[in-house]
Amino acid sequence: MPPGTPILRSAYQPLAYTVATVDLDFHLDPKATQVTSRLQCVRNEDAPAGPIVLFGDTLELVSLTIDGAAPADGQLRHTDSGLEIDVSADSVALEIVTRIDPSANLTLSGLYQSRGGFFTQCEAEGFRRITYFPDRPDVMARFTVRLEADAATCPVLLSNGNLLETGALPNGRHFARWEDPFLKPSYLFALVAADLKALERKVDTMSGREVLLQVWVEARDLDRVSHAMDSLVHSLRWDEEVFGLELDLDRFMIVAVSDFNMGAMENKGLNIFNTKYVLANPDTGTDLDFENVESVVAHEYFHNWTGNRVTCRDWFQLTLKEGLTVFRDQQFTADMMARASDSPAAAASARAVTRIANVRGLRAGQFPEDAGPMAHPIRPDSYQEINNFYTATVYQKGAEVIRMLLTLLGREGFRNGMDLYFSYHDGQAVTCDDFVGCMAEANGVDLDLFMRWYSQAGTPHLKAEGAWDAAAGSYTLTLSQHTPPTAGQPDKLPLHIPVAVGLIGPDGADLPLVLAGEAGPGDTTRVLELKEASRSWTFTGLSAEPVPSLLRGFSAPVILDIAESDERLAFRMAFDADPFNRWDAGQRYMERVILALAADAAAGRPLEVPQAFGHAFRALLIDDSLDAAFVAEALALPSEAYLLDRLQPADPAPLRAALIHLTRALGLAMKADFLSRYLDLEVDGEYRYHPLDAGKRALRNQCLRYLTAAGSATAIDLATKQFEHAGNMTERYGALAALVQSDAPARVGALEAFHQRYMGDALVLDKWFQLQAGAWRWSDAAPDTLAQVQALMANPAFSLSNPNKVYALLGGYFKANPAEFHRADGAGYAFWAEQVIALDRNNPQVASRMARALEGWRKFTPEIQARIRPALEKVAATEGISPDVAEIVGKALS
Ligand code: PHE
Ligand code: ZN
Repeated sequence: MPPGTPILRSAYQPLAYTVATVDLDFHLDPKATQVTSRLQCVRNEDAPAGPIVLFGDTLELVSLTIDGAAPADGQLRHTDSGLEIDVSADSVALEIVTRIDPSANLTLSGLYQSRGGFFTQCEAEGFRRITYFPDRPDVMARFTVRLEADAATCPVLLSNGNLLETGALPNGRHFARWEDPFLKPSYLFALVAADLKALERKVDTMSGREVLLQVWVEARDLDRVSHAMDSLVHSLRWDEEVFGLELDLDRFMIVAVSDFNMGAMENKGLNIFNTKYVLANPDTGTDLDFENVESVVAHEYFHNWTGNRVTCRDWFQLTLKEGLTVFRDQQFTADMMARASDSPAAAASARAVTRIANVRGLRAGQFPEDAGPMAHPIRPDSYQEINNFYTATVYQKGAEVIRMLLTLLGREGFRNGMDLYFSYHDGQAVTCDDFVGCMAEANGVDLDLFMRWYSQAGTPHLKAEGAWDAAAGSYTLTLSQHTPPTAGQPDKLPLHIPVAVGLIGPDGADLPLVLAGEAGPGDTTRVLELKEASRSWTFTGLSAEPVPSLLRGFSAPVILDIAESDERLAFRMAFDADPFNRWDAGQRYMERVILALAADAAAGRPLEVPQAFGHAFRALLIDDSLDAAFVAEALALPSEAYLLDRLQPADPAPLRAALIHLTRALGLAMKADFLSRYLDLEVDGEYRYHPLDAGKRALRNQCLRYLTAAGSATAIDLATKQFEHAGNMTERYGALAALVQSDAPARVGALEAFHQRYMGDALVLDKWFQLQAGAWRWSDAAPDTLAQVQALMANPAFSLSNPNKVYALLGGYFKANPAEFHRADGAGYAFWAEQVIALDRNNPQVASRMARALEGWRKFTPEIQARIRPALEKVAATEGISPDVAEIVGKALS
């Protein structure tokens, strides 16, 4: 198959031969690792006849025998993707020996080295870089593993499942044998051989079995792992309580590695994590880091059931495990936040804050993806490189689709569907249809129309119109839907959209909802199911015109179009009983103000912030009856990435001017209020990661940001003091972030002090790199961010071969700083092309992620597009470019 040929979902075929058992033997050596694989291949009754198909990628084949004998003439064929073997028996034993060079593997896929240790990453197609194998998720086998390595450099030898035996060998080597009692696909295989230490804990599962939990890190990091361990215990309990799902192994291990392409990986019983999502203590991690560690630990742990026990038939079904598992980790986080609250109202607010963070991420990351050349349904129909499809759409929008099922079926109905799913499919590799089928069967409902969420790409627009009939005391709400065309999908059909609705009375209180023909009293929030292009509902028994509050809790991943006056938005900012919508009313108002300011900036008109907006904003700022975390979210502007998409055509410079102007104007106008909140919010006592404290710190840092934006000497002084006296990273980083955007001399001193203090600390230095790459100035001084980023690349702590460094510095610049990246002379694009090409030589996955920074180039003004095109063309024309990057730039240019 020539490169660039798409792989189609419709072309799925089961393999003629699958594998029953796998016995692996690793002789680990940095330059020449020898892998012996003994496979029992068995004929698949459900598949058409054919050869044994084994995939292999960059392998050196040392030997291969079939039932103990060398292959006969013509029996073994080399193909583009690996090997084919003709056999006639129903069951055949293969022994395959391959040799690989982990030290030269900079892709971080397959077996590679990091800081002297050996690690594997097999999802999606890394196992074929270790040995020849039918490396597809629908081949589930029983694995046993023996590994041997140098005892001094690699004292710890781990693999999936249970440890059977360890022992010493001649020449300073040692070995271990592991057995995984569960069937698994090859993408869940893992091994680790490294110099690590573990934090251990023993807990009893719900059935009273004692299990051993371990978090393995380098010895120097042992003072940063207790939070990950606590998070693991919380996750284990939550899955027992909420879904009745128990840990099925006697031992569960987490291993931290500093070179890792993604966040973490759910290998059976041996999760491997990017250090960023394991290590956190008060001095090195912010509240957000603590929160991320907790949710990623939960995510990987939850995969044990949703992903491992029941896995995907093929990679098109990726959202089967990822959408569902993201949904589960989001629910977990919301529950953990609510549990830490001190009243039911605080718990509701805490849940809303979690929801707000989820939706912010969706709007900033997934909406732009769904509007660009990479737009795809949560279950794609084709791909060129599967690694490019670990996307915001598959993960985040996929989680929204699961959440809609919960909304439609209710808690109990959803749980029944989950139970049925496990009862039918435990130990199987299945499809999204199987999952939704279980939800439908368990609830006796028809979800055929709902399945369109799996096949249709693009963000739907939901249009709402209300008509008030004073004489009848009724309010008619008309909802219509429209999904714009996306690449390869010109015509869209109506979707099944749950719309949670409330009606607010003139006094700000929710009204009972009674539909025409119903008897009251009704609930104050109801879910309307829109299944057609347009439909109306009439609410009766109303004494005054209500204000609609639609899509409460963000009940569907759509863009709501509704004509709302500024007054209505301000009213809902003050009164909407749904905290999510209360926040969203503010976001809508801000968006309106910012887009108007950007238009003024583009036209060279003076910028002025409407007074009424200032009033509505201030009301939230000074309301100390509200939860601090909520207020921090309410005062935060919509993300630049989301706003860019809302500006048509997109133009980063005037948008940036608008954001700067608005932030400064608010800071200036409400200086005293920001200051008094700042002073009131100080958290006393020793740092603890707790949502209530974290909320206060977040709001405090938010106030500091507005104050320093306004630029007074007092504000710089406050920030400098906070930086110098900070008792934890959240305060230190918050102060640094505020100072970095100022022109005050304190800026340089703080950056230097931070660098000095954390010189040997890779994860903390990532923050330092990222902050500088993503920063701009509140003043009109033009910082040369590009020159700054280039200079930082020469810092000895920076390395192009460490993904975290690349994401922090280059990602910070390409993705988090649009106005600087899209500078008018086009130098940002030339730098982008140069870096993408350089990265691609070693690590196509990381290169491809950076390449994606320009995929949405057609949303920009024609002048900007003209400057971007040559950079895209340069990358596309580069000889030897990886399929990963080729797919991104190819789709961007097509
Ligand atoms: N499956 C991992 C997760 O979502 C992500 C991942 C994908 C990691 C591919 C590595 C490689 O938890
Ligand atoms: Zn996942």
